Amino acid sequence: MIFDTHTHYSDQRFDNDRNSLLMSMEENGIGNIVEVGAGIKSTKEAVKLSEEYSFIYAAVGIHPYETADIKEEDMEWLKSLALKEKVVAIGEIGLDYHYDKPSRQIQQKWFIRQLEIAKETELPVIIHSRDAAEDTLNIMKTFYQANVQETYGVVHCFSYSPEIAKIYINMGFYLGIGGVVTFKNSKKLINVVSQMPLDRLVLETDAPYLTPEPDRNKRNSSLNLKYVVEKIAKIKGMTQQEVINITEKNARELYRL
Ligand code: NI
Repeated sequence: MIFDTHTHYSDQRFDNDRNSLLMSMEENGIGNIVEVGAGIKSTKEAVKLSEEYSFIYAAVGIHPYETADIKEEDMEWLKSLALKEKVVAIGEIGLDYHYDKPSRQIQQKWFIRQLEIAKETELPVIIHSRDAAEDTLNIMKTFYQANVQETYGVVHCFSYSPEIAKIYINMGFYLGIGGVVTFKNSKKLINVVSQMPLDRLVLETDAPYLTPEPDRNKRNSSLNLKYVVEKIAKIKGMTQQEVINITEKNARELYRL
């Protein structure tokens, strides 16, 4: 079944129909979901959702946008959550220079601190990196020396070149592929998907964001991953079932399930 490796169902856009939507996943071919924290509040809610639904797992972390007021005691709190049985990753963490807020220095400080927590708790990481290719890679290289034997995490919503994709894959990372691959202007990502082996790719929605074509302007949910599967199958010249099976296996390896 389809494994959605990255969602935000705690978002208020799901307040009216969250339970009925989540309860409809199985009959629509969606097996497991990882609900990802992006700050203090959404991390709490991710853990709660993982406790309420058997097929949902949680990731705990502070998104770069949310790092302005973070303190060391928040890190201790994250670490304590990381010990919970259904918490499978630290994330999403990283760098986002799109608006340069908070400052790059603050973002880097908490990115590095959360990478340390992942190391201490032996959990994989979910990396968010936008307009920050070089700094992200430099920080990652100091943490993850080339060792392809082990799984270290996923670069979520991968948006860089095939060359950078290759570096991450060689470091043992997976690439998260979602709705963007269906967009008309997604040539760069299509090149990444066509050149990288399917056994290093995982499916993700980032719901409620990044809705694939043909529903691009609507709220996203895991139900739309069928469009992403369709597009990847076309690029790779494989059947949709092969894409579903291989990416599901990858997701289980990534999150060690
Ligand atoms: Ni996200």
